[in-house]
Amino acid sequence: MIRSAPVKLSARAAAIQESATLRVTRRAAELKARGVKVMDFGAGEPDFPSPPVAVEAARQALAEGFTRYTPGSGTPELRSAIAESSAARWGSPWQGKDCVVTVGGKAALFELTLALLEPGDEVVLPSPCWVTFPEQIRFAGATPVTVPTSVEDGFRIHAGPLLEAVTTRTRAILLNAPCNPTGGVISPEDLRRVVAFAAERGLMVISDETYERFVYDAPPASAAALAAEFPDAVALVGSFSKTYAMTGWRIGYLLGPAPVVHAVESIQSHATSNPTSFAMVGALAALRHAEPEVEVMIAEYRARREIIAEGLNRIPGFRCIPPHGAFYAFPEVRGCFGPGRRSSIEIAEYLLEEAAVAVVPGAAFGADDHIRLSFACSRATLAEGLERIAAALAR
Ligand SMILES: Cc1ncc(COP(=O)(O)O)c(C=O)c1O
Repeated sequence: MIRSAPVKLSARAAAIQESATLRVTRRAAELKARGVKVMDFGAGEPDFPSPPVAVEAARQALAEGFTRYTPGSGTPELRSAIAESSAARWGSPWQGKDCVVTVGGKAALFELTLALLEPGDEVVLPSPCWVTFPEQIRFAGATPVTVPTSVEDGFRIHAGPLLEAVTTRTRAILLNAPCNPTGGVISPEDLRRVVAFAAERGLMVISDETYERFVYDAPPASAAALAAEFPDAVALVGSFSKTYAMTGWRIGYLLGPAPVVHAVESIQSHATSNPTSFAMVGALAALRHAEPEVEVMIAEYRARREIIAEGLNRIPGFRCIPPHGAFYAFPEVRGCFGPGRRSSIEIAEYLLEEAAVAVVPGAAFGADDHIRLSFACSRATLAEGLERIAAALAR
């Protein structure tokens, strides 16, 4: 073997960190592979099967040879159907040409940050926030400016503090409601304030609505409802992953103003090209016919949310506000800090190694007093997992 000089990575690659959620998933997988029965609250992965109608449509597409490149921005049918669905639900003005189908919502966000941001720019976003947002913003050379939301009011996102954080360097305001990891939501009034302000200042509101269907006790709100009034200020990212339990299909999308859509199309044309052809056929079938399955999932998550919040609040040292949306509980766990468990990372490690329970440390989301538990897992996992956590922390 001939070894050369150590591989030199770009500064960009060296600065980026692996997603903490993926790290927990990998460690949990290692334990599972060794035969350990892990109670997995780690990944945000619905435990429901993908809708049969989607599976069947994709199977048929494969059988019929729909296996070639499609237009880079996705099939015209799916782009139109996504725009029509948004128009029907929210009165948005977008048409198929205003939609780019992407390789998951993650790729839409990544391409958007590359399309909009330059070194020196700032992006204002509520915190705690999904691990990927700050990394993507930094990757584009810009700076994330986080604005805290608080456990006291259920992590609601308020317009005032976000707008106060805007400076002359701000290029975009990034919203994610319902929020991963907190379940925090934004009211239609606050959302309107943010978008109107952005429109006045020439800023972009990037609204990541991946969990938009999972709202339990708050009025639904979507930036799509404001796109007709403020067409240049709204870029909406959506995903089939959580809504339809189609995480592995990798289908997401962007809806937005023409210049942004064109820039993202160009970037995508040099990055992924089209998302997988037959996966888009499945996604189209889900969008058209899988509403009954979605309703079932929403009802089940609503019930599990009660179970998990109640169970976590029974554990001494934990405090859990039932999340308003999404499918994550984000309890405060500072009351359990002690020797060997001095941070959310140490608590997560302790629970994985001592109780074979996988959770994500809140530090990954900028909140070291918390841990995140996904309740997109079976009720049996919920029951046994909660029991194990209580027993392990009582030791
Ligand atoms: C807040 C948020 N946005 C976007 C995504 C991206 O999902 P996908 O790329 O599977 O569409 C996720 C996935 O966990 C998420 O939590």
